[in-house]
Amino acid sequence: MEGTKDRVLIIGATGYLGRRFVKASLALGYPTYLLYRPEVASDAEKVQMLIGFKMQGAHLLEGSLGNHESMVSALKQVDVVVSVVAGNHLRHAILEQIKLVNAIKEVGTIKRFIPSEFGMDPGRMKHAIDPGAYVFKDKRIVREAIEKAGIPYTYISANCCAGYFLSALAQILNFMPPRDHVLIYGDGSKKCIWVDEDDIGMYTMMAINDPRTLNKSLYLRPRGNILTQIEVVQLWEKLIGKELKKTFVSEEEWLGNMDKMAAPMQIGVAHFYQIFYRGDLDFEVESPDGVDSQDLWPDYKYVTAEEYLKRYV
Ligand SMILES: NC(=O)c1ccc[n+]([C@@H]2O[C@H](COP(=O)([O-])OP(=O)(O)OC[C@H]3O[C@@H](n4cnc5c(N)ncnc54)[C@H](OP(=O)(O)O)[C@@H]3O)[C@@H](O)[C@H]2O)c1
Repeated sequence: MEGTKDRVLIIGATGYLGRRFVKASLALGYPTYLLYRPEVASDAEKVQMLIGFKMQGAHLLEGSLGNHESMVSALKQVDVVVSVVAGNHLRHAILEQIKLVNAIKEVGTIKRFIPSEFGMDPGRMKHAIDPGAYVFKDKRIVREAIEKAGIPYTYISANCCAGYFLSALAQILNFMPPRDHVLIYGDGSKKCIWVDEDDIGMYTMMAINDPRTLNKSLYLRPRGNILTQIEVVQLWEKLIGKELKKTFVSEEEWLGNMDKMAAPMQIGVAHFYQIFYRGDLDFEVESPDGVDSQDLWPDYKYVTAEEYLKRYV
């Protein structure tokens, strides 16, 4: 297969989402190149992960966004770049992608760049509240640099990662579904979109050289997984054969204690507010700039919310 398909560079391959992208890229038969940072040498688990990928056929390249020569050298070996780097409130790796944009422009041969987004569409989140807003702001700055440089792109809005949101019925900082009691945001009626991480990897890798996604935003919207929080709780109740006690949390209560929380928690609270109180995932995809995964790949067998939750029973 190598030699006939686009060569893909994945940056952030050892990350929470990045590892799924490697799996998808190898499964779809792309010649797969992984950028790993020299610092990874002190992390046994990540090194073992990288070696595991190498044994499955991936090529390992040492480098980092901040090292221009390493980026130029890596970019010369590939056709497509997928960045799955992440930042936090202290370390703005998302903005470091500007250096990657500059290197891509200099090399001039990259056919498609997928910057690290994979959440809510930053272009639609200009109204987001602080301190969660910086995530969207940084991603918009990267978009501006890509478009100014004339680099072919696809932006991927993956909505809510199942492992972060669905697994615990959206109980913040929990990753296992509750069995007795659940917090419901507002009246629990805002539409949310719950997507399995492996499916995010597959949709992304199917999109990287599809002409229908060129210079567009791709929204991952598995139709059966567009569900309100209440609908997800009901799915879980059916699976365990038990009704949970529900506490309905008003918007004022949800935002009320934010300033007493640690910074990372405040960011999570702000993002939950956008999704579950404002309903920011509930909108029509606007063509021609936006495309819906369900329209492009209607036959793709995504993991349904019910299938996903079954594993926790
Ligand atoms: N929709 C959702 O529910 C959801 C959930 C989670 C994340 N996301 C989004 O998905 C994206 C990835 O997040 P994640 O949680 O998968 O990230 P993560 O687990 O923190 O992994 C980030 C990866 O980026 C690499 N990296 C960081 N700085 C780098 C640099 N300067 N040069 C090269 N590599 C660098 C890290 O390398 P090392 O391994 O060397 O540290 C790591 O492999 C982000 O855009 C995030 O906002 C969305």
